[in-house]
Amino acid sequence: MEMPIYLDHNATTPVDGRVLEKMLPYFCEVYGNASSIDHLHGNKAKQAVDAARQTIAKALGCRKESEIVFTSGATEANNLALIGAFRKFRDKGNHIISTAIEHPAVLDTLAYLRGEGAEITLLPVDSFGVVDLEELEKAIKKETILISVMFANNEIGTIQPIKEIGRIAKAKGILFHTDAAQAVGHEKINVYEMNIDLLSFSAHKFYGPKGIGGLFVRSYAPLIKLAPISFGGGHEKGMRSGTLNVPGIVGMAEALSLANKEMTTENKRLKEAAELICKRLQQAFPEIKLNGHPQLRLAHNLSLTIPGVEAKALIHKLKNKLSFSAGSACSTVKVEPSHVLKAIGLSDDETFQTIRLGLGRATQHPERIADVLIEGIKQLRSN
Ligand SMILES: Cc1ncc(COP(=O)(O)O)c(C=O)c1O
Repeated sequence: MEMPIYLDHNATTPVDGRVLEKMLPYFCEVYGNASSIDHLHGNKAKQAVDAARQTIAKALGCRKESEIVFTSGATEANNLALIGAFRKFRDKGNHIISTAIEHPAVLDTLAYLRGEGAEITLLPVDSFGVVDLEELEKAIKKETILISVMFANNEIGTIQPIKEIGRIAKAKGILFHTDAAQAVGHEKINVYEMNIDLLSFSAHKFYGPKGIGGLFVRSYAPLIKLAPISFGGGHEKGMRSGTLNVPGIVGMAEALSLANKEMTTENKRLKEAAELICKRLQQAFPEIKLNGHPQLRLAHNLSLTIPGVEAKALIHKLKNKLSFSAGSACSTVKVEPSHVLKAIGLSDDETFQTIRLGLGRATQHPERIADVLIEGIKQLRSN
């Protein structure tokens, strides 16, 4: 059977063939432990890790490569950023500000920190999913030690005013963390220019392998050292113990280099494709609504509410032709309405009538994709 067209690139992306090629020698040939620097096998692995760290640091605008802490992905990076910062700086205050539309890797970690004595304020967002900067300023108090606002939302694609949020945090001496899992490799990022102190990312969101990611931890103005959340050999400057995933790290660096190099052309292509799909669908069904900000959004994401059509039913109907998700693929185990769609003002019914299309490098013929969707919607509506 021919595989359906993959349209879930916000959930994950395939490993780029060029990335895989770079990774392969690090499984069976250069297999040393990057911490075993007394011998050549370990040294070779360490050299590869050092080079990859340098590439990633440069791509994100870091001052030093040591500002990159490798983790298993954005979930762990978010846990380390939030729990590590809270435990390290709780003597300065216990208040953390975040938003109602964060990924569960942030929201659930914050809920956990409540149990450790943290006070959490979750800011609302407007109907486009954007945080109000005045609300943010109002929420700050003398106990505030950390602001955590995601770079781009995984369900509706809205991009936040990151630089301005960072400026507000900096002016008050508060740390600023951003979950950039959906933005790294898709949007231009410079952590210093954008006043970011901590930034989480995951390689599989930008055509790298799964199970590898990282956290940028600023080392200058201010120098940040987080409390570890796991314990062991003291790797990654004591912030994240555990043998380094050398093939994953090498692959992530290559994936990020390629994504950054191809970003401008690829974003233009995907924006046009997404616009075409949206326009064609709305021509057929004018009541279809695009969620998220019309301009400040990820080029490859489309969140669409189709009144009268259950997202799950449409996914099922088209499962041999298209692979896409309802709301967020990250929470398919839950049957509750999406907290993100609720936060931008959708009713429970509308949240269940919302699909997410995540376009990507292999996406071609957007008009055909739109036509398949139109046909599926027509069939469901005629039932
Ligand atoms: C915004 C955001 N944060 C965090 C994550 C978690 O990433 P990972 O599952 O790679 O740890 C995801 C992935 O779904 C995401 O979209």
